[in-house]
Amino acid sequence: MKIGIDKMAFATTDQYIDLRELATRRGVDPNKYTIGIGQDRQAVVPPTQDIVTLGATAAAKLLTPALAKRISTIMVATESGIDNSKASAIYVKHLLGLNDFVRTVELKEACYSGTAAIQFARGLVAFNPQETVLVIATDIARYGLNTPGEVTQGAGAVAMLISAHPHVLAIEPTTVAYSKDIMDFWRPLYATEAIVNGKYSTNVYIDFFLQAFTRYQQLTGQTLADFAGLVFHLPFTKMGKKALEGLLGDRTDAVAQRMRQQLHASQVYCRQVGNLYTGSLYLALMSLLQNGQVKAGDRLGLFSYGSGAEGEFYSGIVQEGFTTALNDIAADLKTRHQVSIDQYERFFNGRLGMKSADRQFDLSHDRRPFVLAGQQNHQRIYRRQK
Ligand code: HMG
Repeated sequence: MKIGIDKMAFATTDQYIDLRELATRRGVDPNKYTIGIGQDRQAVVPPTQDIVTLGATAAAKLLTPALAKRISTIMVATESGIDNSKASAIYVKHLLGLNDFVRTVELKEACYSGTAAIQFARGLVAFNPQETVLVIATDIARYGLNTPGEVTQGAGAVAMLISAHPHVLAIEPTTVAYSKDIMDFWRPLYATEAIVNGKYSTNVYIDFFLQAFTRYQQLTGQTLADFAGLVFHLPFTKMGKKALEGLLGDRTDAVAQRMRQQLHASQVYCRQVGNLYTGSLYLALMSLLQNGQVKAGDRLGLFSYGSGAEGEFYSGIVQEGFTTALNDIAADLKTRHQVSIDQYERFFNGRLGMKSADRQFDLSHDRRPFVLAGQQNHQRIYRRQK
C-alpha cells in the first residue's frame, strides 16, 4: 500500500519587507543578507495573524467539502504555541468548520515536528487506510529586532493531507532519525524569542545531515545517483547550500550538478518568505516540485532538522498528478504588499505575546480569511471573515 502526501497548500501573510532595506537600516552591507545569508524578502506578521490563522488559511486552500468529511485527525506541528495546554489544532478545526468526530493534537520538537507528524500520520493510515490525516506545520520565526538572527525570521504554514492515495509523494519505508541533547537553539517558557547559538547550530545541522544520509545509504544500498534531488529544511537558503556542499565537496560530475540545480529550485520560495520553522522543509519541497526538473516516478530525499536537536532523512517517490495537487505559490506571493521597516517593527512589538490583559485589534486592515480579533478573559478570539 502506498502512503504519503496527497495534497499540499502554503499560506503566509500578505505583507513583507525587502531585506536590502532592512540591511540599510541595520548598517549592514545588503549583499550579506541577499548573498551571504541568501534571503531577499521576509514575511511580516500583523498582530491579527498567528499560527492558528495561518494554519487554517493553508488548510482551507486544500480542503473541498468532500475532503473535509474524510479527515480523521488534525496534527498541528509548531514551536510557536499559543497555549501551554490546549492544542492549536482545536482552534483550527473550529475555524475550518470540521465535524466534531475528529482527533486534534499539537506536536513539538523545534523545526522537526512537521516530519514527526507526517510519520505518525503514516502509522494511522497504515492501521486504517480509510483515514485521511491533516498535518499542518505552522510557525512564526522570531529572533528579535537588531539581532544576527533577524534576517532569518519568517512566517507561514504548510498544510498537507496524508492518505493511502497520495498524489504528491509516496513515502518510502526506510527513514533515519538521529537525535542528541544539544543547546543550539531553544526558547525557555518565559521568552517570546528564541535563544540561539547561530554558528554552532549551522555546524550541528550539517553534521546531523551527514550522519542521517550516510546511515540511509547503508540501510538501503542507494547512492546520491538514485535521487532526482534532495530537499532540505531551509532556515535560510544558504543553509541548504552549506549542507549539500558538505556532502558533495569538490564533485562536479553530472549527479552533483543535478543536485545543485535542484537545490536552487527548492530555495525559490524560502528566499521570498524566510524561515517557517516546522514548514520550511515542506515549502522547499513545494518549491522544487514547482520550479525544478521533477517528473512522476522520481525519488526525492528529504532532510528535516529541528534544533535541540533532531534530524531525519527519508525519501519518497513523486506521484502522477502532483502539479495539480499544490496551490500556485508564485501567484499567491505576487498579491503581497511591501511594508516599511518602521511598520514591520511596530507589528513586531504589537503582537499579543505573553500579555494577559484584554485586547481588541483593529481588523479593518486585515482582509485574510481568518483573523485573531484579540483576547478576552485570557481567551484568544478568532474570526472567520470569508
Ligand atoms: P552572522 O553573525 O550574520 O554570520 O549570523 P556571518 O557574519 O558569518 O555572515 C553570514 C554569511 O554572510 C557568511 O557566509 C559571510 O561570509 C557572509 P558563510 O561563511 O556562512 O558562507 N557575508 C557576506 N556575503 C556577501 N557580502 C557581504 C557579506 N558579509 C558577510 N558583504 C546566522 C548568521 C545564520 C548564524 C544567524 O543569522 C543566525 O543565528 N540565524 C538563526 C539560526 C539559524 O538559522 N541556524 C541554522 C541551523 S539551525 C536550524 O536550522 C534550526 C532552526 O530552524 C530552528 C528550529 O529548529 O526550530 C533555526
